[in-house]
Amino acid sequence: MNKTIIITGGAGFIGSHVVRRFVNTYPEYTIINLDKLTYAGNLANLKDIENKPNYKFVKGDITDAIFLKNLFSEEKPDAVIHLAAESHVDRSITNPIEFVMTNVVGTANLLNTAREQWKGEYDKHRFYHVSTDEVYGALGESGMFTEDTKYDPHSPYSASKAGSDHFVRAYHDTYGMDCVISNCSNNYGANHFPEKLIPLAINNIKNNKPVPVYGKGENVRDWLWVEDHARAIDVIFHKAKAGDTYNIGGHNEWKNINLIKLLCKIMDKKLGREEGTSEKLITYVTDRAGHDLRYAIDSTKLQKELGWVPSLQFEEGLEKTVDWYLQNEEWLSEVTSGAYQKYYEQQYKTK
Ligand code: NAD
Ligand code: DAU
Repeated sequence: MNKTIIITGGAGFIGSHVVRRFVNTYPEYTIINLDKLTYAGNLANLKDIENKPNYKFVKGDITDAIFLKNLFSEEKPDAVIHLAAESHVDRSITNPIEFVMTNVVGTANLLNTAREQWKGEYDKHRFYHVSTDEVYGALGESGMFTEDTKYDPHSPYSASKAGSDHFVRAYHDTYGMDCVISNCSNNYGANHFPEKLIPLAINNIKNNKPVPVYGKGENVRDWLWVEDHARAIDVIFHKAKAGDTYNIGGHNEWKNINLIKLLCKIMDKKLGREEGTSEKLITYVTDRAGHDLRYAIDSTKLQKELGWVPSLQFEEGLEKTVDWYLQNEEWLSEVTSGAYQKYYEQQYKTK
C-alpha cells in the first residue's frame, strides 16, 4: 500500500536510523524527513539514502504551527512518526524552556495539525510518538518499568517528554485519533551525538582526554542497539492497536563505571594500546543534578504480542560502535567542532 509518512527528527541519531529503515524497506512509501537541523541534526547521517526516489527532506520547526499546516496541506501525510525533540538531560538542566518549547509545544502543535487535517478520517491515519523510559522516573536496586508504571519524571527533559506523552494520550481519548506511544531505554550505535556517554567516552579515549564519570559511576542504564530500536518502531507502527503503548528495551543493564571500563578495554585493543592504558583516563566528576539511579525496561508485552526481540549482544554491539567511530573520523570531527566545543567547555568546567 502506498503511504506518505512524515518522520520528524529524521536527521538526528535515532531518527536517521528510522528514516533509513523505512526508505529501504518500503520503497512504496514516501518518507518525508521533517527536521529543524539543530546542533543535533545532521544530514550527513543520511548520505547513503538522500537520493532515493521515495525520500524527501524538509527543513522546518515543529513549534511553528503555520509551517506545519502548510506542510500537511501540501503533502497530505497518512501518518506521522514523531522523534523530533531536545534529547540531552544535561542541556535540559541549563536550558529547560527550550525543552518545553520543542518537546511539549512542538508535540502539541503536531497533534493539533494532524487533528485538523485528518478530521473525519482518524481511522485512516496514525500518529506514532517516540518517547523514553525516563518518564517513569528512577528505580531502586530491583524492579523494572512496565507499561503500567506511574509517571514520575525528575529532569526538565523527562518532564517535557512526560508532558508530550500526556498530550498524545489526550488527543486519542478526546478526539479519537489513532495514537501510539513507545517508551525506549538508552540507545547506542552509529551517529550518536558525542555529548552522550558512550560516544563522548569513545571520542575522549581516542584523543587521550579525561573520561568524565558522574558521581561514583554507580548509576545503571539499560542499553539497546539503535537499529533494534528502529526495528521495534517499524513493528509497532505497523501492528499496534490505536491507543496502545509499548516499552522497548534490551534487558541489558550496566553500571556506568562497568560500561566505561569495558569500553576502555575495547579501545585499548582497537588502538593497539597496552591493556589498562585507557582506564587511567577515567575521571570522577560532580554528579548530575537529580541524577536517576537506575532504569530497566520490561519489554515482555512487545516481545509476546508483536514478536520483537533485540538482535545484538551488548559486547558485540559496543565493538561495532567503536569500529564505526574509528572509521568515521570526519563525521566525528565535524560534529565536535564549533558550537560543540563551547558546550563542552561550559558543561565540564563546573563538574
Ligand atoms: P537527537 O537529539 O539525536 O535528535 C533530535 C532531532 O530532532 C535532531 O535532528 C534535531 O534537529 C531535531 N529537532 C529538534 N528540535 C526540533 C524542532 N523544533 N523541530 C524539528 N526538528 C527538531 O535525539 P535522539 O537521541 O535521536 O532521540 C530521538 C527521539 O527518541 C527523542 O524524542 C527522544 O526523546 C527519544 N528517545 C531517545 C533515546 C536515546 O537513547 N537517545 C531513548 C529513548 C527515546
Ligand atoms: O533512557 C533513555 C534516555 O537515554 C533518552 O531519553 C535520552 O534522550 C538519552 O540522552 C539518554 O539519557 P541519559 O541521561 O541516560 O544518557 P547520557 O548518555 O546523557 O548518560 C548516560 C549515563 O551516563 C547517565 O547515568 C549519566 C552518565 N554520564 C553521562 C555523561 C554525558 C556520565 O557519567 N558522564 C558523562 O559525561
